[in-house]
Amino acid sequence: MLDDPRAIAHLDSRGMLALVGRFGPMVADGWAAARDAPAPAGRISAIVICGMGGSGIGGDLLRAALAPASPIPVLVNKSDRLPAFVGSSTLVVACSYSGNTEETLAAYDAAGRAGAAVAAITSGGALATRARERGDAVVTVPTGLPPRSALPLLLMPMLRIAAKMRLIELADADVERTAATLGRLADEWGPARPLRENHAKGLAQTLHGARPVIYAASPLTEPVALRWKTQLNENSKVLAWCGAFPELGHNDVVGWDGAGDAASYHVVILRDEGDGAADARRVAVTRDGILGRARGCEEVWSAGTGPLARMLSLVLLGDFVSCYLAGLRGVDPTPVEAIDRLKARLAGA
Ligand code: F6R
Repeated sequence: MLDDPRAIAHLDSRGMLALVGRFGPMVADGWAAARDAPAPAGRISAIVICGMGGSGIGGDLLRAALAPASPIPVLVNKSDRLPAFVGSSTLVVACSYSGNTEETLAAYDAAGRAGAAVAAITSGGALATRARERGDAVVTVPTGLPPRSALPLLLMPMLRIAAKMRLIELADADVERTAATLGRLADEWGPARPLRENHAKGLAQTLHGARPVIYAASPLTEPVALRWKTQLNENSKVLAWCGAFPELGHNDVVGWDGAGDAASYHVVILRDEGDGAADARRVAVTRDGILGRARGCEEVWSAGTGPLARMLSLVLLGDFVSCYLAGLRGVDPTPVEAIDRLKARLAGA
C-alpha cells in the first residue's frame, strides 16, 4: 500500500505527507519570519514558553536546544496559568498556531498582568489581535495549516529570538544547512521512495499492529520522543507512549518486568551522535536486560551536522512514520476530530 501513490493520495486527501515533505523549506521560512522580531529590551532572567499540543512542542524542542549553553532557565508551560515567579524580568512567549487556544490565551493574559515581557507567535486569531492591541511583539506565520505540521514555522522564530538574546549561537548559514539536510532527508523518506529503500516506511510497517513506545537516549532527543508520541496519536490515531533515559530506568523498567502484555509493545530508541558513553551503556544494558520482553526494539539515529539539524532529523523521521502508519491503518492523517469535538464542547460549556 505504501508504494501505491493512488492509495496514499486517496487516504491522505488533505496532503499531510506533502506538508511533512516541506519541513526543510518551512525551517527557512520560520527563521525569516522572525527577522525583525525584537529581543526583549530589559534584563531577562527566565523564559517561559506557553503553548499546547502542536504549538507547545516547539517550546520543548527550544528548551532542549538551549539547555547546553543558555545561562537562564527555559520553562515550557502547558496550562492556562503561570508559575508565580513570572514577573518583569521574565520573557513569556505565547505560541498558538490558530491563536485561539484557550489555555494559551489565558496564560498570555496572565503574563500581561504579571508585567512580563511578552511575545506572541501565531498565524492570527485572538492572540494576534490582543498582542497588537497591547503592543507586544508578534511574529505572524502563514495561516491555513494543521498546527502540528507548522512546527518549523513556530520553532524557528523562537530560536531566532533566542539567538538575538545570545542564548544560542545560530546564524543564517546554520539554518540554511539545516534546511538543506531536512530537504535531502525528506527525499529519502518521502512517498516516492519505495519501501525497500525507505527507512520511514519500513519503520511504519514494523510498528503496525504493535503499541509504540518511544524512548530518548539523551536529553537532546527527549522532546523528540514526545513529538513521535503525539504525531502517532494525531496522525496515526493510535495510543503511544514515550519516555527518556536515564529516568525510565527508575520506573518504566519495573513495568516492563511485570507486564503480562509486554510482547504487544514495540520500542523505538532515539539515538544521537551526542549521546555520551553513559547514555550508550544505559541503552545497551536496558535493552539486554529488560526490553527483550517487548515485541521488538530498534535504535534509530539522528542525521546531519549540529544539534539542531540532528534533533529535527529525528522529528522529521517520526512525522513520516506517523503518516505511513496512518496509511497502513487506513486512516487519513489530517483530521483530528476528537480534538475539534473537545474544543467545541469546552467552548460551548
Ligand atoms: C492540531 C494539533 C493540536 C493543536 C492544539 C493547540 O494539528 O496539533 O495539538 O496544536 O490543539 O492548538 P493551536 O496550535 O492552534 O494553539
